[in-house]
Parts: sequence; C-alpha cells; structure tokens
Amino acid sequence: MGFITTDLDFKRGIRMPLVSLREVLERAEEGGYAVGAFNCNNMEIVQAIAEAAEMERAPVVIQASQGALKYAGLNYIVSLVRAAAESIRVPVVLHLDHGTDREQVLKALRAGFTSVMIDGSKYPLEENIAVTRQVVEVARPMGVSVEGELGRIMGTEDNIQVDGQEAFFTDPEEAQRFVAETGVDALAVAVGTAHGVYKGEPRLDFDRLKRIRELTRIPLVLHGSSGVPDEAIRRAVSLGVRKVNIDTDIRLAFLQKVREELDRRPEEIDPRRILGPAREAAREAIRYKMRVFGCAGRA
Ligand code: G3H
Ligand code: ZN
Repeated sequence: MGFITTDLDFKRGIRMPLVSLREVLERAEEGGYAVGAFNCNNMEIVQAIAEAAEMERAPVVIQASQGALKYAGLNYIVSLVRAAAESIRVPVVLHLDHGTDREQVLKALRAGFTSVMIDGSKYPLEENIAVTRQVVEVARPMGVSVEGELGRIMGTEDNIQVDGQEAFFTDPEEAQRFVAETGVDALAVAVGTAHGVYKGEPRLDFDRLKRIRELTRIPLVLHGSSGVPDEAIRRAVSLGVRKVNIDTDIRLAFLQKVREELDRRPEEIDPRRILGPAREAAREAIRYKMRVFGCAGRA
C-alpha cells in the first residue's frame, strides 16, 4: 500500500498546525494514557509515523535528536514534519529529543519546534536545575513545552552515551525539587530502561516510578522504551508515564525489511521498491506501539 496521507489536506481542506507537547499531555492525563514519541531522521520514517497516527487516530510526537538534525538538516526535518502534520487530521508535536545545551535548544525554537527536551542529566543537580530553568524561561513565553531529565539513562541515543557505571536511577525527592524549581512540563526518569537494544530483559523499578509521580504530579517520560515488554509499558502508563519514546524498534523494523527486500531482489535498482516496504514495516511497528500506549483512538 502507498502512503495514504498524500493529498489528504487537498481533499479535505484541513491543515492542522503543530501543537505543543503540553496540550497533548493534558489530554493524556485526562484519559490516563501515554502519547507515543517516535524518533525520525529521514522522510520515510516521518511518513511512517504520520501515517500510523492517522490510521490509529492517535495524537503523536515526532521527535528528532541532535544527531538526526545533523544527518537530515534542521530545515528538512522541520519541513517534513510540518508537511506531515498538514497532511493528517490528528495533533502532531515536533519535539527536540535530548537537547544537550541552550544553543541547540534555541536553534530548535527558532526553527519552529513546539516542544524541546533539555537533557541536563550529565550535570550535578544544581546545574541541571539552572540550565533547565533557563530553557523554560525562554520556551514558555513562546508557547513551547519543555521536557527535563533527572537521573542517567543507560545506553546510546545518537550522540549521547552513558555506560553502566555512569547510569543512576532518578531520586524521587530530587525529582520533586527539580520539577518545583524548573517548571518543566514533563520529566524524563531513569527507572531501569536503557537506550538501544537490550541484552537481557529490562527490569523497571515501578515503586520508584510511583513515588516520583506522587511527589511531582507531572507527566513522566519513559526513554529507552524499545524492547520493553508490553505489560511493563502498560504498568508504567498506569503509574503516570504519559510520553513513551521509541527509536530503536523503528530502526529495527525498517532495516529488517530493507535487508529482506535486498535479499529477495538483489538486482533491484529502484530505491523506492526497497524503502517503500521498509516504510510500511516501520508504520506497522508504530501502530502496534500506539495501541499498547493507549493513545490509539484518542484523536
Ligand atoms: O530519546 C529517545 C528514546 O529514549 C529512544 O530509546 O532507542 O531505546 O527506543 P530507544
Ligand atoms: Zn532518550
């Protein structure tokens, strides 16, 4: 099947602007579900996410890491995601994933992102609070949401790498202070997930998650969610996770299909015949996640 959203805006006369993360999270709070936040770095993946959202009637966060922005170009990503949002009828948030410093965040704000993450988790608490608060002060008047991070999530996400010794779980009391002093809209927590492919089965610290939520009372974000069993994700959502980040599972679905198609047709010279099926495979993986997170049918 082709890319179904082509010409949707033309046919229906609908142009949906990008919305802020806060707006989408408020509805997720009311409904007790989590919004899927899917990483993109090329046109096919943006389309796969958009098409999945449209098919599942799900609000969606399309996010790009600094590595993705370097690879595809900031303006390309913004234009692709805007085009996607204008071609479907569900709310779309354009989010900067793991912004490492104020300069990167400012670039994203100027380019039209509607949500930014400032990942100050490598800093000591005081410094993390200071850098995150600065970002909130700039972003809030622009109507742009801010996600902060406390605790260190293990593994590799593009240009961010945290090994076993550096990783540590989020402290609930520190989280309470962090949220009160920064004013973030959402908080990424380290509770046992890791970026990338898991070696064994991840074990989440649900008691910690529950305590963090009790003390902060804001939407929590689960990073490194690829490879986490569905039941664990559902339980995390029941405890206050409202944004679930997925990157690796999209890459795996996409590339597995690329390999299969190349093996099947080694003489193929048209990239579309390889990338088209890969886009569909990614879309189906994303649709499945949306149903697990509970955001399907909410838009
Ligand atoms: O920030 C992005 C996510 O945390 C993605 O993690 O690649 O393990 O799905 P993942
Ligand atoms: Zn992450």
